[in-house]
Amino acid sequence: MSPKNKLRLLITGGGSYLGQHLTPQATAVHDTLYTYFQHDPLNSGQRERLDLRDETAVHHLVQSFQPDVIIHTAGSNRGADMEAVIRLGARHITQAAQQVNARLIHLSTDVVFRGNAPPYAETAVPNPVNAYGRAKADAEAIIQTYPHHVIVRTSLIYGLDVMDHGTAWMVQALRAGQPVTLFNNQIRNPVWVETLSQACLELVGHPFTGILHVAGRQVMSRADFGLRLLDYWDIRERGTLFIGPTGMGEWPLNCELDLRLATAMLHTPLLGVDDVLHAER
Ligand SMILES: NC(=O)c1ccc[n+]([C@@H]2O[C@H](COP(=O)([O-])OP(=O)(O)OC[C@H]3O[C@@H](n4cnc5c(N)ncnc54)[C@H](OP(=O)(O)O)[C@@H]3O)[C@@H](O)[C@H]2O)c1
Repeated sequence: MSPKNKLRLLITGGGSYLGQHLTPQATAVHDTLYTYFQHDPLNSGQRERLDLRDETAVHHLVQSFQPDVIIHTAGSNRGADMEAVIRLGARHITQAAQQVNARLIHLSTDVVFRGNAPPYAETAVPNPVNAYGRAKADAEAIIQTYPHHVIVRTSLIYGLDVMDHGTAWMVQALRAGQPVTLFNNQIRNPVWVETLSQACLELVGHPFTGILHVAGRQVMSRADFGLRLLDYWDIRERGTLFIGPTGMGEWPLNCELDLRLATAMLHTPLLGVDDVLHAER
């Protein structure tokens, strides 16, 4: 992209797992500012500490930076007060985006779905089973009040340089001799963090608005996914590892996403887990 096409890009959650990968790529092509709250693993470039629950602070930052585009990654299923961060953060970011007429790209999740009617197209109606899914579904509804938005629904995020949250938790438990069950009846489309970052950046300059499912094209159980990553990271401690089903409960079972729209629309290939792991060997 030539310097005259450089956009002013604001990324919330620059230190999130996704943000850590997305922000350096974004900085290489756009005038990028990222926000952090309690952790700043990047610690370089234009950055501001921001509590997304603080309406005044969000408005002040957006007014002073005047972004053309906002990528709102912050607000996951981890950390304190996350439901408030998700809902209030979405509200404050949407209002602020509206005031400066910024394009708003919001990260959402496949767990807005109930998991009993896959594959889920963009038109499927959210019907979450847990508090995180409900908060993210509410955030989607808030974002949709502003027309200039893209909601990117994605699935389990992993990378090959920095261990993802789920694998890191599993490794810690296995090394401590604690039981870990990998569910063979929870179905997802795990997405390589480089794929997701590239797709988000492609959407920065794209005319599309609305909901888009962006994930890996390989549909697999959490058990198959977990085992592949344990192999990749060469984790040998498996004495307390169990494979089995979970009942319908805290997390939805099959959240397979229909990726046809993103596959047709984006240049970014939606690589599956085996595509990524085989390319790495
Ligand atoms: N990880 C997955 O497998 C997955 C799957 C589907 C969808 N998603 C979605 O993808 C996005 C990124 O997920 P992730 O796993 O990369 O996130 P993450 O690593 O869990 O990071 C969460 C982020 O939220 C920020 N945050 C927490 N409280 C905040 C507050 N009060 N004000 C401002 N920021 C606050 C954190 O900032 P500090 O660390 O600085 O405190 C951190 O950057 C999320 O929207 C998530 O819903 C993730």
